[in-house]
Parts: sequence; structure tokens; C-alpha cells
Amino acid sequence: MIHGIWGQPFIDLEQLLDLSELDAIHEEVCLGLAQVPVAYTGGSHRSMGIMPPSLAAEALGDYGSVLRQLSREDRAVFASLADDPIAARDQDTLDFGEERPRALSRRQQLWLEYRHGVYFPWKVYFEMIPNHYWDEKASAEGKSFTREARTFFPKTIAFVRGLPFTQIGRCNVMGLRALDYGTVHLDGDPAKKPEVDHFITFCPGGNKRLFLWDEERQERLFIDRRAYWFNDSDYHGVESAPYFRYSIRVDGVFQPEFLRSLEARYPERPRGDE
Ligand SMILES: [Fe+2]
Repeated sequence: MIHGIWGQPFIDLEQLLDLSELDAIHEEVCLGLAQVPVAYTGGSHRSMGIMPPSLAAEALGDYGSVLRQLSREDRAVFASLADDPIAARDQDTLDFGEERPRALSRRQQLWLEYRHGVYFPWKVYFEMIPNHYWDEKASAEGKSFTREARTFFPKTIAFVRGLPFTQIGRCNVMGLRALDYGTVHLDGDPAKKPEVDHFITFCPGGNKRLFLWDEERQERLFIDRRAYWFNDSDYHGVESAPYFRYSIRVDGVFQPEFLRSLEARYPERPRGDE
């Protein structure tokens, strides 16, 4: 099932936000991405246990599984490619990756892809406000837009600062190359976390087809909007397309009045009544 928010599968924010700058932001983001160093992300959803059972095979090569099975020689190669290769010699290989103490270096990501066939769905990932652990994404403490973000994405940052948050703890560009698809996964466990995290996704190009996945019904529900909020404890993925596309996700804490205006707009009712 899709849990959604207040009886809606997702919240359409197109009418509630001023999106008049999105065309100009699209120009800026495409030009900026051509000039900043980007990283890969994803690539371990299956080993993280966050994929629906029926689609787990879509993850193809998963680096969590690969890292567990590296030979001693390959572990040495992996360590030599770390950002701090000397320290990495004594570090546990399994400490590297998403939601782990150490981030994979660019060289490690490429080696995992080239040598071990790992599939990284998001190959154009740029952190404007870096955030390490998922459960820290709403907190702005000690965080800021990076120097590169401020240099190459000033209009985008102005737009993000104008969004209805009291604080922002994470902001990043999630880009997929042509023919890649975003593996279906969930970000939170609906059994453990009934409240929905506050975030806004916006898609300046209007061409990224994110969908919610209903594992029971085996159905996709596409969100063809340029700005939206959804329950990320629902399974979600990105449809393949023969061209590059991206969205920008901003995490934080919504302003109370914004939340109240949304609640008033969508008085909760059981799904199925729509
Ligand atoms: Fe996600």
C-alpha cells in the first residue's frame, strides 16, 4: 500500500509555491552541473534492506554485497583508492558507504562500478548542503551551502532559501544519466516512523518521472509535478528515460503556518474515499 500524507498519495505543491523562477533555475543548474565535481549515490539499496522484495533484482550490482566479498588483495586496492588511503589500510571495508562512518571516494565508486559491476543509479549527485547521516537531515546545525554551490547556483539557493522552512539541513541535486533508473526503495520504516519527514522536491526541467510503488498491488503512481512532497516511508523510484534529468531535494523543518495551510487544504480522510 501507499501510506501517503493526509489521505493523499503525495502533496502537489505546484499551486502553493511560487515556481516562476524554475525555468531560470533550470538553465543555472544545467550550466552549473557541467562545471562542478559530481559524485555517485545509491548503489547499495538492496544490501541496506530498503527495497521491495519483488523489485530487489533491479539493484543489479550492489556495493554492500561486493564489499562483503572482497578478497584480501581487493580490500587493499579498495583502501588505496580512499580519500585517506593510509588510514583506510586499517579501517573496516564495511565502514564505507551510505549511512556508514566513511563516505566512498570518487575513485572507490568508479572502481566498484568498473571492476565489480556496481550499479549507481544517481550518477550526477551534487550536495549543496552536505549531510552525513539520514537522521540528521532536518537539522541545520553546523551546516551551510558549500562554496561551490554559492558560486555556481545562486538563483537556486535564493529559491531554496525562500521555501517555507524554519531550517534546512540538506539540499542536493539528484541527477540520473540517460537510460539509468532510480532503484525503488524507501527512506524510512513506516512501522517505526509514522510521522512524515518534512522535505520538498522540485524538478525545474519537469521531466523526471518519480513514482510511488505499491508493492501489494504491483502498481506505480507517477508524480508528474514540478514541486511536491511525499511520504518517503513509501517505496519510490525513478523511471528510466533516454535523457539526463534531475530533481533537487530540500530537507528541513516546515514553517508551522505552511504546515497548517497544507493540513487545512487536505483534511485527513481514509484512502479510497477520493
Ligand atoms: Fe529515497
